Amino acid sequence: MRRFLLLAHRVPVRGGFTLNDLAGGGGRMDEVARAVSTAFTLSNDLRRDTEMTVLFSAEPPPAARKVHLVGARLRYLNPDERSTAALLKNALVRAADFPREFESSPGLRVGPADPLDELRAFLRGPGTVWLTESGRPVAEWAPPGSDVAAVLSDPDDPTPAEAELLGASGVPRYSVGPRSLRTSQVVDLFHAEVDRREAARPVTP
Ligand SMILES: C[S@@+](CC[C@H](N)C(=O)[O-])C[C@H]1O[C@@H](n2cnc3c(N)ncnc32)[C@H](O)[C@@H]1O
Repeated sequence: MRRFLLLAHRVPVRGGFTLNDLAGGGGRMDEVARAVSTAFTLSNDLRRDTEMTVLFSAEPPPAARKVHLVGARLRYLNPDERSTAALLKNALVRAADFPREFESSPGLRVGPADPLDELRAFLRGPGTVWLTESGRPVAEWAPPGSDVAAVLSDPDDPTPAEAELLGASGVPRYSVGPRSLRTSQVVDLFHAEVDRREAARPVTP
């Protein structure tokens, strides 16, 4: 299983933006949507072994929202960024001011969340790393098992409170390359690293 947690700091949490302005009024929903699409799409297939949680924290609780996507059940996720943004926007609009989590489309749950609590819980999971430009090369990583998980941020760096939690958690920091990359590029490179390791694992009869 591969799990991602994406910190989305500026996307309007009630979905109040137009699909024609994802980067501006959408608070960089363009990059969030690209990262979601990259997490799940292969050439003509979906990564069924992947889950992603996006924490929308542009407003504090109770307005903040969490979207959780499960590859094994996901439908209506197309490879283009606009339709992915539409899927996420629809979830946020329907969840605005609704007090409980629900499934807004197959494989996609949305609901209220305390982003720092969610981050804290995610960091306790097995094989979790913080993907950051300042980490050690990911090639040095030795995950404890086949379950892996990664935290990464949207075009804004983690907030001081998030960075403090990440630092205090003791999860290792890794970088996928020497340059500061776009979030979606980091997801791709992380998948490729895990793909390589899985392909190299001896097949047991
Ligand atoms: C566009 S970057 C964040 C902004 C960037 N720090 C800046 O200087 O503007 C988006 C996120 O991708 C991840 N990231 C970017 N480059 C990375 C790298 N080389 N290795 C690992 N993660 C990286 C980090 O989680 C980062 O917060």
